[in-house]
Amino acid sequence: MVQLSLSLPCLSGLAFVRCTPLNGCRAYPGSHDWPSNAVWKGLNETLGGRLLAPAPPGAVCHPGQPTYNADQCPNVKAGWSSYDWHTDNPVSVMWDQFANYTCLPDPKGPCSGQGYPPYVVNATTAEHVKHGIEFARKHNIRINVKNTGHDYLGRSIAPGALSIWMHHMNSIEYHADEFKLDGSGKVLKGSAVTVGGGTQMYDIYRYTDAHNQTVVGGGGKSVGVGGFISGGGHSTLAPRFGLAADNVIQIEVVTPMCKILTVNEDQHRDLFWALRGGGGSTFGIMTKITMWTHPTPKITDVKWMAITDPKAPFVSDLISYIVSQMPYLMDSGMSGYNLVSTGMPNPTPFPGLPTEIAGFMGANLIQNADDPNVAAKIFKPLNDTLKEKWQGQAVMFQTTEQYPSFLAWFDKNYDQGQAGQSSYMVSRLLDGKALTGDPEALGKALKAGSAPSGGMLVFMVAGKGVQDAKPRGGNAVNPAWRTAYVHAVEGMGFAPFNKTAEEEAIKLLDTSFQPLRALTPNSGAYINEALPFEKDWQHTFWGTNYKRLLKIKRAVDPTDVFWCSPCVGNDRWEERPDGRLCRSSK
Ligand SMILES: Cc1cc2nc3c(=O)[nH]c(=O)nc-3n(C[C@H](O)[C@H](O)[C@H](O)COP(=O)(O)OP(=O)(O)OC[C@H]3O[C@@H](n4cnc5c(N)ncnc54)[C@H](O)[C@@H]3O)c2cc1C
Ligand SMILES: *[C@@H]1O[C@H](CO)[C@@H](O)[C@H](O)[C@H]1NC(C)=O
Ligand SMILES: *[C@@H]1O[C@H](CO)[C@@H](O)[C@H](O)[C@H]1NC(C)=O
Ligand SMILES: *[C@@H]1O[C@H](CO)[C@@H](O)[C@H](O)[C@H]1NC(C)=O
Ligand SMILES: *[C@@H]1O[C@H](CO)[C@@H](O)[C@H](O)[C@H]1NC(C)=O
Ligand SMILES: *[C@@H]1O[C@H](CO)[C@@H](O)[C@H](O)[C@H]1NC(C)=O
Ligand SMILES: *[C@@H]1O[C@H](CO)[C@@H](O)[C@H](O)[C@H]1NC(C)=O
Repeated sequence: MVQLSLSLPCLSGLAFVRCTPLNGCRAYPGSHDWPSNAVWKGLNETLGGRLLAPAPPGAVCHPGQPTYNADQCPNVKAGWSSYDWHTDNPVSVMWDQFANYTCLPDPKGPCSGQGYPPYVVNATTAEHVKHGIEFARKHNIRINVKNTGHDYLGRSIAPGALSIWMHHMNSIEYHADEFKLDGSGKVLKGSAVTVGGGTQMYDIYRYTDAHNQTVVGGGGKSVGVGGFISGGGHSTLAPRFGLAADNVIQIEVVTPMCKILTVNEDQHRDLFWALRGGGGSTFGIMTKITMWTHPTPKITDVKWMAITDPKAPFVSDLISYIVSQMPYLMDSGMSGYNLVSTGMPNPTPFPGLPTEIAGFMGANLIQNADDPNVAAKIFKPLNDTLKEKWQGQAVMFQTTEQYPSFLAWFDKNYDQGQAGQSSYMVSRLLDGKALTGDPEALGKALKAGSAPSGGMLVFMVAGKGVQDAKPRGGNAVNPAWRTAYVHAVEGMGFAPFNKTAEEEAIKLLDTSFQPLRALTPNSGAYINEALPFEKDWQHTFWGTNYKRLLKIKRAVDPTDVFWCSPCVGNDRWEERPDGRLCRSSK
């Protein structure tokens, strides 16, 4: 049967027209409605030859594969643990489970393209993006959007999809002192930068630094701006300037109906609101993003510890006490990344410590401080309390270092983690009440949260700047950020190819954060660093904004051209165990 969708032009705006039969599935390689090679060739011609049919990422290691190449295999194996290798590959992503282990660079395992999108648009213009969406709409094909593939929830890979690869849309343009909004022509005072939707953090930092400016960006060099700002985007600078999404003033977007729009506070306000915090690949594909820059601060780097013996009876009290001081520390100008641990090998060269330690470790910064002793002064009340409460059994150290700019600091302090593993994360945003209200409950919750790996991250990335942010036209960022000081995160790895191990890790992460959830009943989690299987995820990730987001999703994408999970309005479809995307049976 010929499907109705084949004869419908993409721009058909009739909300009741469905591009797929009500109980149908998206086309899939091998399905009767999958386009012929000739039809794909037609798309390639429309794209000026920019259509890719990439070999599965690990194929060079597998003798049965056409691209088998024993000389190249060691390079792919070595690259697999780096963020850059997966970023530069058209389909590969950071975390192995999301490709269902269908082609690791290991000849002992399987290799097929099954877990990956078979076709990719290597986009460099909004027109390329539009052609890709148009083709997918017309032929009932699932769309995937990959920028860098960093996503911890697996939202940038989909089997059987046409993938739009944003990585090469990475132009950068600086606007000194003012920016004129498209449409209204309103002139906003302040310096800004317009970047392509695939631009990576480090490129923006370097470019703006040449103007003595910086942006609210992430801790990783290679994170892409598209996924970052669509989730919110936290930063060590956010406690002063708001989240990355709060700093965005204009976006160029290709909508699910294939319109190329420029959205800002004066035009297409709903879409502008939703794109900043409402989640990636849901409301369209962002091809250009304009955001404020800020004069680069000079940085006082502060590394510190407040620790004891893991066998001490007061470990939980010590951790709870230090974490309860975070609102004070942040109100004093500190921000950054911290780890609480109930027991781990001592990672530092500080002399005279046991080989195993428990407590708190901070990698923090203070902006524009003139006093070289600023950190010691801020820490004094904490240090005094430790001495009084635990008489030398808990100790506190700090070292500081000065950097002339944010970039100079970042060059020494960027995220140096590894890709190419199987892992999940769980998140909770902690407000002032949770941090200072009930020390005993906080201590227990932090201990439970640390259980899966023995340590848990407590990022000081919200606070005043995020709470008081006034994003232009408002935005869809989880309202829980507006009362939060701390983003608490725990991660856990598991063995590949082992569904039981995966399910156990998910359950452990979920259970371990239950006390933190109970402590913060009105809060939520950060979508970009969260467990994809959060219960009631719609409200956990978007709170009271979910209702409006859903309305906007239905208006801009009535036929669900964009689908991902967990993403706004995805309930009308589900991914079947074999990877096919089909109308929801519910
Ligand atoms: C090493 C590392 C460090 C990190 N540091 C931070 C941090 O400091 N702060 C923070 O907030 N988060 C951080 N994150 C999390 C990060 O925000 C997410 O991983 C985010 O999804 C990355 O976006 P991406 O575009 O690079 O990745 P992708 O995986 O390619 O994309 C993520 C999601 O956004 C969609 N998307 C991407 N580009 C576009 C676009 N142009 N238009 C529409 N949709 C798009 C994708 O479809 C997908 O749904 C970090 C992650 C890693 C791995
Ligand atoms: C698209 O066309 C280019 C240029 O002709 C070609 O190199 C490329 O292999 C084609 N892509 C596919 C998927 O066939
Ligand atoms: C994608 O396009 C970019 C920019 O034109 C080009 O440099 C790159 O080689 C292309 N990638 C592939 C895999 O063809
Ligand atoms: C940046 O700051 C330095 C040092 O203050 C100064 O010499 C330089 O001219 C500034 N550059 C720009 C582009 O303003
Ligand atoms: C705490 O006080 C001791 C002296 O009693 C000092 O050596 C140490 O540096 C102080 N720690 C911090 C973090 O200021
Ligand atoms: C898979 O993981 C489970 C749980 O960790 C473990 O008990 C089991 O032995 C593992 N299976 C294999 C084949 O390694
Ligand atoms: C993942 O792989 C397993 C084992 O090969 C298979 O049973 C399952 O259907 C695959 N899942 C998807 C979503 O493709």
